[in-house]
Amino acid sequence: MDADALKKQAAARALELVRPGMRLGLGTGSTAKHFVDLLGAKVAAGFSVLCVATSEVTQAQALSLGIPMSTLDETPELDLTVDGADEVDPELRLIKGGGAALLREKIVAAASARMVVIADDGKLVQRLGRFPLPIEVVPFGLEATRRAVVAAIATSGSTGELRLRERPDGSVLVTDGGHYILDAHLGTIAEPEKLALALNVVPGVVEHGLFIGLASGAILAGASGLTILGRIE
Ligand code: 5RP
Repeated sequence: MDADALKKQAAARALELVRPGMRLGLGTGSTAKHFVDLLGAKVAAGFSVLCVATSEVTQAQALSLGIPMSTLDETPELDLTVDGADEVDPELRLIKGGGAALLREKIVAAASARMVVIADDGKLVQRLGRFPLPIEVVPFGLEATRRAVVAAIATSGSTGELRLRERPDGSVLVTDGGHYILDAHLGTIAEPEKLALALNVVPGVVEHGLFIGLASGAILAGASGLTILGRIE
């Protein structure tokens, strides 16, 4: 079975967690897109939910499907967020931001009583870091921030190259929040908590893609079925 079919299976299992009247955070990426499609079909059949999107892309998709949308200003507490991930480790620590939505994804996840990750099981890793860690930075002072990020990574015991993320046409990618992304190619992250804390205190860093203590469970779809990490109910 191809990865897309597995992503859809994980999304379908997550849909079973949705109860009438729930306030939901909607993730970003190809796996979350399946979830939003399935939720849209349920809403079209009369199901009631109120959702907050983690990106402009997801917002547009949800609105096109007739899903009732809100904001964290109107609905600051959510019951459940369902989102994808770039890497998941056995302790439910994540790397996110491959789709450049990490800032809103983290804000929405933090505003949710539960965050459930949906992914194909190729995202499960014993150690985070093979996927480049996205670090969202403000454009002002980019070079100074880049150097401070390099130092923060070194103090946390990791090393690697930082690359400013570009669009396919070679222009610099700008996030929904108007920021840039530095992708840290670390190979392996020895101490994710230490790195997260070190990055948190760099001026100019808006957010990073290490999600620690946010996911309550994960639904991972593989050739031999679904694997559940943590608690999803
Ligand atoms: C977007 C994300 C995505 O959830 C992550 O990149 C996974 O995407 P996909 O489901 O397409 O593999 O963090 O910022």
